Amino acid sequence: MQKDKIVLSGMRPTGKLHLGNFHGALKNWVALQDKYNCYFFVADLHSLTTAYEHTENLAENSRNMLIDWLTAGLDPEKSTIFIQSDVPEVSELNTLLGMITPLGWLLRNPTYKEQIQELLKQKYAGQLDEKSLGEKINSIAGDEEISSFGFLGYPVLMATDILIQQAAYVPVGKDQTAHLEIARDLARRFAEIYGEAVFTEPAPLYTEVARVPGLDGRKMSKSYHNAINLGEDLDSVRKKVMTMFTDPNKKKATDPANPEGCVVYAFHRIYNPNAAKRCEECKAGALGCVACKKELFALMEPEMKAFSERRKLFENDEALLQKIVAIGKDRARANAAKTLATVKKVMRITR
Ligand code: TRP
Repeated sequence: MQKDKIVLSGMRPTGKLHLGNFHGALKNWVALQDKYNCYFFVADLHSLTTAYEHTENLAENSRNMLIDWLTAGLDPEKSTIFIQSDVPEVSELNTLLGMITPLGWLLRNPTYKEQIQELLKQKYAGQLDEKSLGEKINSIAGDEEISSFGFLGYPVLMATDILIQQAAYVPVGKDQTAHLEIARDLARRFAEIYGEAVFTEPAPLYTEVARVPGLDGRKMSKSYHNAINLGEDLDSVRKKVMTMFTDPNKKKATDPANPEGCVVYAFHRIYNPNAAKRCEECKAGALGCVACKKELFALMEPEMKAFSERRKLFENDEALLQKIVAIGKDRARANAAKTLATVKKVMRITR
């Protein structure tokens, strides 16, 4: 037990979560609740760093994500669950930390360029050939719609989220390594400049997680339409399992096949203690895909049923949701306010 250590993590609200989010992150968060003093928040301000023109679904997406977190087992009695924009202290510290962040750190951040590439690809899909797209990517500085001040400052805001709560550990995916490094560097830089170490230096908390492919074998993603949602109704889940991608060389139930790359097998590895046995049977042509899929669904069914019931419960209890975020907000603000007060004192901006 390290209840004195703070763990903090957040997700940008993309709407309803799927099994990829569950097995890839949420399940781990749920387990961390019993070991640490956990803070989990909906990073709604972060979604404005790219989707600032599309705020029409922001509140709804935050609400859906919150419901999914509770469905998955995040527990407001154990953890502080809050919405980023409910904590104005974050925006204030973000301004202060922005002042001491060298521009070079942000311009060199590898995820900055990658994300710009991704955004440009989406924006010009089918309109530009590879070469013109490449030129466009190289002239990103001139693309005023995509490259905003807030977008470049994404890592500063993320560092603020972490440092303001004095988090010791941050469970994130490997893709967030560079961001976390900036948070650590900022903690140190602040101490160097003002002569007082106000912030806890946060360490990443990487956990081995199962990779969950989408129904078609690509990464599970909302935009690929290959996802199974948390709390999705059972009939729909059953149908989706029956359409999962399998070895295309296996035409008949008795054909021997290769389970590597088979989506059904990837799921068996998560849900079936006998996965290794099924793998051998498949290779030997002793297991047909239909039977294999039926067994998988039966194994997933109890958890999916529980999710679906829990999700409905939260969905239909607006008062409970409001109460949960109100409590989270109070706790997160109280903790943040302490850090902010010290920062302002050390920076001599109090009167
Ligand atoms: N950048 C994170 C992501 O895209 C989300 C995030 C924002 C975050 N602030 C954070 C994660 C602070 C951990 C800690 O996944």
